[in-house]
This record gives sequence, structure tokens and C-alpha cells, in this order.
Amino acid sequence: MSEDPLGPLMAQCRERVQGVLDGLLPAADTSPERLHAAMRYAVLGSGKRVRPVLAYTAGLAVGVPWERLDAAAAALEMIHASSLVHDDLPAIDDDDLRRGRPTCHRAFDEATALLAGDALQTLAFGVLAEDEANAPSARIQMVARLAQASGAAGMLGGQALDLASEGRRLDLAALKNIHSHKTGALIRAAVAMAPIAADTPEADAIEALDRYAACIGLAFQVQDDLLDVEGDTAVIGKASGADAAHHKATYPSLLGLDAAHAAAQELVDSALAALSGFDDRADPLRWIARYIIDRDR
Ligand code: IPE
Ligand code: IPE
Ligand code: MG
Ligand code: MG
Ligand code: MG
Repeated sequence: MSEDPLGPLMAQCRERVQGVLDGLLPAADTSPERLHAAMRYAVLGSGKRVRPVLAYTAGLAVGVPWERLDAAAAALEMIHASSLVHDDLPAIDDDDLRRGRPTCHRAFDEATALLAGDALQTLAFGVLAEDEANAPSARIQMVARLAQASGAAGMLGGQALDLASEGRRLDLAALKNIHSHKTGALIRAAVAMAPIAADTPEADAIEALDRYAACIGLAFQVQDDLLDVEGDTAVIGKASGADAAHHKATYPSLLGLDAAHAAAQELVDSALAALSGFDDRADPLRWIARYIIDRDR
């Protein structure tokens, strides 16, 4: 395996998607200014851009040029940002801090935050549909994949189950189901975009990449739960301890810290095993798997 230069690669991907997003988001000085400003605020802050990074690095693994993944990377981040805006609302997690600054509804107001989240979702699908870098058939598959991952069968369904679980003690299978939906589904979609854009996708490779993505998607939320307990508010950019305050079902609350860390490590091991048939072009995906449970924000 080649040396781990994930930092510069992530920076490159982040810079690239930042430019794409900046160009696609409506200008803050055009009407309706307040809505546009809230959309830009929600997306352009200091997110880690993990989903765009995954889309681009899956592109490296299957040999898809990044031009064909720019729209998908931006659309994934728009859906993700919309999920954060809505997740932070008083009716859901009621949080005041996100990405190191006031949440969208605190910086603007609840109505604007609701509309900005909605507008980011519709923009995401429009961006994919109009992406001239891909053939119409690939665009339709991307739209369908993202819709499935972000809707009631995916992320939003997971959010609904997450809310219903507050104050209840779940078994591990139920918790895994919530996390795989609310967070894992969009991460799986991120990895699925490059195979869709590929000229000659191979069924075995698609299936292996999806196994990888399902493992790191769940691990990502386990680490998020751990950072809520062990992280510093100043570093994670959101209030630590929020899950306990809301009696959320989490890996640390169900299993304890040590077993939650062990579960995250096992998921990364399984993710790496899923990539065993890939050559060193998949090394960035391998580095990201480790990054997901080593990160401190
Ligand atoms: C936070 O996502 C919400 C989850 C799905 C766990 P990220 O940790 O990717 O948040 P940003 O985009 O870096 O702010
Ligand atoms: C959020 O999970 C998953 C989403 C779909 C936004 P969390 O509620 O744990 O995310 P944070 O901790 O607020 O970022
Ligand atoms: Mg939540
Ligand atoms: Mg939350
Ligand atoms: Mg969390």
C-alpha cells in the first residue's frame, strides 16, 4: 500500500467542491436575498466535505475523471447540508452551534432555515439532472440513487427513527438500523456515484464498493456518537454532550465507550476487507476508512 497522503488529497477535493458549490449556489445579492444567504451559509461553512471526498476518491478507484463527479459531489454536500440545517432545528435536535458558528436557524430564523434546507434539496436534484458532463442515463441513475438515499427509505427515514428512539433503550440491531439510515445511506450514495459515471462498470466492483461504503457509513456515525462524548466543543464545532442531554440512542450509551470504539474498528476492518480485490488506486478509500474513526472533528 502506498504512503498515506490523505491530508493533501482531501484538501484538493475540498477546494474543488468548494468552487463547484460556490458557482452553483444562488448569489446572495439576488432576490430572495435572505433565502439565498441562508443556503450559502449552510453549505459554504467549514464542513469536512467527507461525502464529496468519497465521491472523488471512488472515482480514482474506478478510473472516472473528476469532471464527471463534480455535480454529484456538490449535490451530495447540498443534501448533507440540508440535513444538518433541519437536524439542528428546535423540533429535531435543537442545537445552537454547527461548524463552529450559530446554526442556520440561529443565524437567520426558523422559517428561513426550513426553506433553505428544502431549497438545497431541490437544487441538488436539479444540478444532477442538468449535468452535461454525464450521459442522460447516468444522470437519471444519479438522481434516483440520491433520492433513494436521502428520502424516507434512507436518511430521512433514519432521522424519523432517531427521533422516535429518544428516551428508549434499543437493542444493537435497532440502533445499527437507525445509524445506517440517517448517516450511512448518504455515504453509500457518495461511493456509488463513480460506478454510475463509469463507462464500463463491473458488477463485482460495484458490490464490493457498496460493502465498503456501508461499513464506513455506519462507522462514521459511531465516531460521531463517540465525539459527542469524548470531543471538545471547540474542536468538533458543535456542542458536545448533546446526545445525552436529549437521551439519544447512541453506540456509547448502549455499549459503553470501549465497546463502541471496538465496534468502529471492526467496521473499518470489514471496510478494508471489502476492498481486497482493488489495486492501489483504491488506497485513498482505505485511508479514508481509517480517518473516519481517527478524526477528532
Ligand atoms: C455530521 O456530519 C452529521 C452526521 C451525519 C454524523 P459531518 O461530520 O460530515 O459534518 P460536517 O459536514 O463535517 O460539518
Ligand atoms: C445526524 O446525526 C444525522 C443527519 C442526517 C444530520 P446527529 O444528530 O448525531 O448529527 P450531529 O451530531 O448533530 O452533527
Ligand atoms: Mg440528529
Ligand atoms: Mg444533531
Ligand atoms: Mg451526533
